[in-house]
Amino acid sequence: MRKTLQIATIFLLLFISCESPRKATSVVDLRVEYTTNPVGIDIVKPRFSWKMESGEKGVYQTSYKIVVATDESLKNIVWNSGEVISEKSVHIVYEGEVLKPATRYFWKVSVKNQDSQEIVSTGKAFFETGLMDSGWSNAQWIKPDQDDTKSAVAMFRTTYSLNKKISSARLYSSGLGIYEVFINGKRVGTPNEKGVRQYEEFKPGWTDYTHTVFYSTCDVRDLLKQGENVIGSIVAPGWWKGAISFGKYGKPDLGFIAKLVLNYTDGSSEIIVTDPKTWKFCLNGPIEFSDFYHGETYDARKESAWTSPGFDDSGWQTCGINTGFKGDITAFIGPTVQVREHLQRLPVKITRYDGVTKTESDHGMINVKESLNKPAKVKLPKGQTVVYDLGQNITGWVKFKVKGKSGTEVTVKFAEMLNDEGKKSRGDDGPGGSLYRINMRSAKTTLKYTLKGAKQGEEYHPTTTFFGFRYCDLTATDDIEILSLTGEVVGTASEEVGSISTGHPVVNQLLSNIIWGQRSNFLSIPTDCPQRDERLGWTGDIQIFGRTASYNADLASFFHKWMGDMRDSQRDDGAYPDVAPHCWVGWGQAAWAEAGIIIPWTTYLMYNNKGIIEENYKSMEKYMDFLASRADEKYKYNGAGTNYGDWVSYVKTDSRYISVCYYAYSALLMEKMSLALSNNKEDEYALKSEYYRTLYNNIKQEFQTRYTNENGLLEQNTQTAYLLALKLDLFASEEIKKEAINQLKSLIVDNGNKLNTGFIGTGTIMPTLSDAGLIDIAYNLLLQRENPSWLYSVDQGATTIWERWNSYTKENGFHPDIGMNSFNHYAYGAVAEWIYRYVAGINTDEQNPGFKHIILNPMPDFRKTFPEGQEQIKQVDASYNSYYGKIRSAWKIEEDGSVKYDINIPANTTARLSLILNKETGEVYESGEPVKVTNGIVSVLKENGKMVIELKSGDYSFVVR
Ligand code: BGC
Repeated sequence: MRKTLQIATIFLLLFISCESPRKATSVVDLRVEYTTNPVGIDIVKPRFSWKMESGEKGVYQTSYKIVVATDESLKNIVWNSGEVISEKSVHIVYEGEVLKPATRYFWKVSVKNQDSQEIVSTGKAFFETGLMDSGWSNAQWIKPDQDDTKSAVAMFRTTYSLNKKISSARLYSSGLGIYEVFINGKRVGTPNEKGVRQYEEFKPGWTDYTHTVFYSTCDVRDLLKQGENVIGSIVAPGWWKGAISFGKYGKPDLGFIAKLVLNYTDGSSEIIVTDPKTWKFCLNGPIEFSDFYHGETYDARKESAWTSPGFDDSGWQTCGINTGFKGDITAFIGPTVQVREHLQRLPVKITRYDGVTKTESDHGMINVKESLNKPAKVKLPKGQTVVYDLGQNITGWVKFKVKGKSGTEVTVKFAEMLNDEGKKSRGDDGPGGSLYRINMRSAKTTLKYTLKGAKQGEEYHPTTTFFGFRYCDLTATDDIEILSLTGEVVGTASEEVGSISTGHPVVNQLLSNIIWGQRSNFLSIPTDCPQRDERLGWTGDIQIFGRTASYNADLASFFHKWMGDMRDSQRDDGAYPDVAPHCWVGWGQAAWAEAGIIIPWTTYLMYNNKGIIEENYKSMEKYMDFLASRADEKYKYNGAGTNYGDWVSYVKTDSRYISVCYYAYSALLMEKMSLALSNNKEDEYALKSEYYRTLYNNIKQEFQTRYTNENGLLEQNTQTAYLLALKLDLFASEEIKKEAINQLKSLIVDNGNKLNTGFIGTGTIMPTLSDAGLIDIAYNLLLQRENPSWLYSVDQGATTIWERWNSYTKENGFHPDIGMNSFNHYAYGAVAEWIYRYVAGINTDEQNPGFKHIILNPMPDFRKTFPEGQEQIKQVDASYNSYYGKIRSAWKIEEDGSVKYDINIPANTTARLSLILNKETGEVYESGEPVKVTNGIVSVLKENGKMVIELKSGDYSFVVR
C-alpha cells in the first residue's frame, strides 16, 4: 500500500512539474483614451481598449460587449454595446447616451473567445469626464497685481469654511506659468489605482499658449476638513514667461485659475472659484527666482505655513485679473511629467577639491582633498568644492540634505561632462576634474539654496526648473555637511513598453544610451536636448526618432497631444513650425516641418488609430498646399525650406535635394493615409490618395530630370542622397536602382565601413540598407568602433546619445563648435528602430497595423566576413508590449551554426514569421518536431530562401538547422 502511494506521489509530482497548468485567458489592462482609469477627459466619444492575456495557443476574440454605467455595480447603464461580433479590442468608440460633465462612469467588457467561452474583465474600470462644456462658473484668471521683474514665483491663497459632509470634491485648475496647488498644507495629486497620490510636475505642461492651455482635474476629497480650509497655489514662469518662451507672449503676468466643486452628502453642492476679491497673492516666498534655463534660487528662511489654516495673510495683497491668455482651456491630454522614482540615481563618485594644482595645462587640475566611490556624507569647508558624479546623464534635479548655519548659501551647478586635462587646446573651460559648462551656452543652470539652519539638517530639491546633467558641484558660503544627494529623474511618465538586449555589451550600452536619451528629452513635449538654452520641440529630431521612441514607450496619447501643438503652431499658409510649440525660429523647413505628416503616420502604424489621421488630415493637407505653393516653373517641386539640411553630417548633401526628397516622402505618406481613411474606391479619400500618388509621380519625374545623370544615377554622390532616393524609390528603373545600391555600398565600404551622414541620412540608413539587401553592411556600421559611429561615442564614455558623434573624444577633447556639443540629443538613437524592426524583426503590417497582424522577420548577424576588430552578434532578445500584449522575438546562433528562435505572439493577434533558412539543409523544427501545420501553426511555405510560417497566438520555439 505504502509503495503504491509512493509511486502515485511520484507520478503526481512528475505531472505537476511537466504539465504546469497553462494560464487561462483573461481580459486585462482596460483603458479609456489610452489611459487606465483617466480622470478629467473632455472627449465626447472616448475610445476603449483592453487586452486578452492567455497562456494558450490560438486564442482570439470573436465578439465583445461593453457596458458603461454611472454606478460601480453597473446598474444605471448609459451604454450597452450589445454583443458585437468583432475581433477589435482597441479604439472602440463610445456610442451611448451623451456623457455628462464632471461625472464618473464605470465600465466592464466581456468577450467571447474562439470557443465561444465568455470572459469578463475583472477589477474596477472607470473614466471621469472633465468640465466639458459646463464651463468655469465665472472663475477668473488671477494674477499678482504688481510688477514682477525678478522672475520670482507668485503665491496665491484663499480660505473658506466647510460645515457639511462632503461626498465628492474635484479641483479643476490651470496656470499661466507652471503651477502647483496645495490644500491645507498638502500637495494636490491624483490618487492612482492603489489610492497612492501621484504628483505631476510642471503643470499644466507645455502647449502653444496662443491657442491652448490645459487644465487638470484632481480628486481632493481627502485633503479637505471641517472648518477653515486653505487652497494655495504657486506659479512660476516656466514655458509661459521664462527665458524658454523667447518673448513669444510679450511680458506676460503669471496667472492661476481654479474651480473647486464640492458635493455634499445632503445632495447640495458648492463651487469655489478664483476671483481677485477673495484671493490674495505674495511675491516674497522662498522661491526668489525661477527659470527653466537658469535654475532656481530658494531661501529656506522664508518658508511658512501659508498653505495651512491659521496663517496670517494680512501682509498679502489683493489679486488682479489676468487677461493675457486668449486661447482655450482644455482638459489635459497625455501622460504627465513626473519624478520617475524607479530611475533615481545615487552618486558613483564624490570628489572634494580645494582650488587648483598648478600644472603645465592652461587651467590646471583640481586639487583633490577627498575622493569616494559611493554615496557618503561629506563635510564641505567654505571655499572648497565637491563634485558628484551620478554615473548617468539624466534630466531632472538633485535632492540633497545639508546641515549648516542659517543664512549659509549653497550653490549647485550642473554639467554633462568634466574637463579632462585642463587644456584650452582640448576645449576645456576649467581645470581638469571640474565641471565642463560652456556647452550650456547662455543657460545658467544653477541652484542657490539658503539654509534655515535646521539642527537635524534640511532637505531641498527645486520644483520649478530642471537640468540635463550627470555631474553637479556644490560650494557654500560657510562650512556645511552634505548628508545625502540623489539625482531625481523628471520627465514624461509614458509607460516603457520595449526592451532589447544583445550578446554584445557595447551594443547594450548603446541601447541604454538611447532609452536614456528618450527619458531625458520627453518632457511634456519631445525636445532636442535638456541642458542648454534650447530644450525645444524641434520637429526634425522627433520625426527621425519617433519610430524608435514608440518601440521604447507607449506614445499614442503623447503624440496625439503633440500633434495638437503642431496644429496650434501651424502658420496660416500651412507651414508647420521648426519647433512645436512654436516660440522661436521659423516655419516650414524640409525634414523638420514634415514631422506634421510623419508623426501621424508613425502613430497610425504603431496603434492603428485612424483617429490621429482624421484629426490631422485637414492640417496635413494645408501643409501639402504650402509645399505646392512653393513650386514655380523654373524650380518645380521645391519642397520646404533648406535651413537645416543633413544636420551635423560629416559630408554635405545639398539641402534643396533633401527638401525635394521630403516632398516626395510627404506625398507618399499622404497617399497611404488617405487610403487608410478610404472606405471604397470612389470616396473622397480614394480620390485624394490618387491625387497624392500623381503628385508623388510628378515629383519623381522632376527629381530625375533635376538630379540624375545620363546613367540615371545621382549627381549628388553622398550616402544621404542615395539613401533618400532609394528609400523613396526615386530611380527610373529597377536596373538603375541596382546600380544605385552598388554605388551606396561603395560609398560606405570605400569610407572604411563608416557612415558620414547627419540627422537625416542616419535616420534612414539602416532600414534602407537592409531593404536593399545590404544588411551585412548595416551590421558592419552598427559594430564600427571608429569615428563616426554609434559605438565610437559609447567608447568615448557616452551614457546618452550625443548631438555629434564626436562632441568629445578621448584623443582630442571637446569639439570646438561648442554650441552644438550637446551630450543628450536623441536623433542618432534612431538606430534602435532598426534593431527592433530588422535585427529582432518585430514589425507592424501596414495593411493591418497596430500589431493586430505582426510581421516577424528576424535578421540575425549572418555575416561571413567581418571588418577588422568586429565580431558576430550571437544573440538578441527583444520584446514590445503592443496594444494586444507582449510580442517577443529572440534568436541565438549556436556553436554548430543552428539558430534558435523564441517567439511569443499575444492573444487576439496573428503573425507571419519568416525564418532565413540555412541554405544547405533547410530544416526547421518547432518544440523539437519538424515544422508542420498543427496547433497554432496555420501554414508553412518555403520561398526565396526563407520559411514563411503563419502563426496564431502563443509561445513557440523554432530551430533552424
Ligand atoms: C537643435 C537640433 C535641431 C537643430 C536644427 C539645433 O540647435 O539642437 O536638434 O534640430 O538646431 O537644425
